[in-house]
Amino acid sequence: MRDMPHVLMITLFFIGVEGFLDYLRQLDCSEVEVYAIPEGSIVFPRVPLIRVEGPVGVAQLLETTLVNLVNFASLVATNAARHRIVAGNSKILLEFGLRRAQGPDGGISASKYCYMGGFDATSNVAAGRLFGIPLKGTHSHAFVSSFMSPDEIVEKSLRSADGLTSCEDFLGLVQSWLNKIQRTKVLSGGFGDTNLSELAAFTSYALAFPANFLALVDTYDVLRSGIPNFCAVALALRDLGYEAMGIRLDSGDLAYLSCQARKCFQAIEKEFEVPGFGKMSITASNDLNEETLDHLNKQGHEVDAFGIGTYLVTCFAQAALGCVFKLVEINNQPRMKLSEDVSKVSIPCKKQCYRLYGKEGYPLVDLMIGENEPAPKVAERILCRHPFNESKRAYVVPQRVEELLKCYWRGSPVEMREDMLPLKDIRDRCTRQVAQMRPDHMRRLNPTPYKVSVSAKLYDFIHFLWLNEAPVGELQ
Ligand SMILES: *[C@@H]1O[C@H](CO)[C@@H](O)[C@H](O)[C@H]1NC(C)=O
Ligand SMILES: *[C@@H]1O[C@H](CO)[C@@H](O)[C@H](O)[C@H]1NC(C)=O
Repeated sequence: MRDMPHVLMITLFFIGVEGFLDYLRQLDCSEVEVYAIPEGSIVFPRVPLIRVEGPVGVAQLLETTLVNLVNFASLVATNAARHRIVAGNSKILLEFGLRRAQGPDGGISASKYCYMGGFDATSNVAAGRLFGIPLKGTHSHAFVSSFMSPDEIVEKSLRSADGLTSCEDFLGLVQSWLNKIQRTKVLSGGFGDTNLSELAAFTSYALAFPANFLALVDTYDVLRSGIPNFCAVALALRDLGYEAMGIRLDSGDLAYLSCQARKCFQAIEKEFEVPGFGKMSITASNDLNEETLDHLNKQGHEVDAFGIGTYLVTCFAQAALGCVFKLVEINNQPRMKLSEDVSKVSIPCKKQCYRLYGKEGYPLVDLMIGENEPAPKVAERILCRHPFNESKRAYVVPQRVEELLKCYWRGSPVEMREDMLPLKDIRDRCTRQVAQMRPDHMRRLNPTPYKVSVSAKLYDFIHFLWLNEAPVGELQ
């Protein structure tokens, strides 16, 4: 008997579900309009990233999808952009995060949005295939330690880069270069014996990928074995018209090792008269993040490319981004979410959003105005007010006005809307947007907050509504 109400409820529930499924079956987004700030833009708290208009039920169903799509993507792209700012534009940044990413879907998203945020390539082959992101990587330590001796290399011939000649014993050529390197004192003290298992691995790798020879040099001993072995193979490849890609350091004191490696490459350039050898590319990886990049910069290093994984793709510095979806207007009635915490108070009304640029070309302020207010105009003075602080306000005379929200869905796929750009173009946009920010907004320590404002009219309206909606307390 005690089960009775339970059974009854389940039956009712099924009737409810059927009706709900019927409702879902006939739903579409033909009455929905979606406006958004273009992907790859710099955005600031409180300015709506996306504005959804349509029947409240349908818009409500879009909430989780849209917020999910925006939050992690924006977080990881921001993280990538921050790494790019610290590393500087001249360095190559490689995303090496797939093994540590939050599951396969987290890994794919991270690769895509790290590229958007300013990385140059990924080691995630699936993401490369899906989005056309350049792929970069090296062999593993296991590849090096899987070799026992040079005798294991059976096929030793290598065709020259121009295809005209062939070297029958590439291994012999490598060994003769190694002897020359060991005999000369390219580094103070010279080189002793290197690990020949490692030499075999490098040689074998170069035979397979003569035009993409990038060697991981820290399996045994970077300075005593990895680097001289790499140089021997690189010089042998050079004899056949190939240019080696460089080395990768994956452990130890990256600043020191990179400087020593650079010295060695330069000494070889001089000793054997091989122009350009001193500029051989050095890639570093191993638990890098914004802080370690900053430290490396302060210590001085010779790294050309950074492979960054865990801290980048898991967004170690901040686990989640807190974008939310709020109702701001229904049936032409403004709606406002009040909160004790002023950062959680939503700004009511369907709004238009503009970015106002100053004389020097930098963005000065983002301005939100009501739907029916006239847009700000170039060279016309406009009052910009902090949405919640009465005393914070400023007149702005914009030199350029950019409307931020563009239409991406107008009820049907054939209606006029903004183009969806290729990933590469979005990445370029992101790079340009970061570069055009005033430097004091972007500095690592105590950055100047960027101003986000409302028009005087919207300010008055917010506070009128606030007073109307907030219950008046009573002192006892
Ligand atoms: C290379 O170093 C490893 C680890 O020290 C060692 O086991 C191996 O025998 C060495 N190989 C050669 C050919 O010296
Ligand atoms: C408003 O801004 C002023 C000036 O920056 C500041 O001193 C004041 O504390 C702010 N008031 C509130 C309520 O945040």
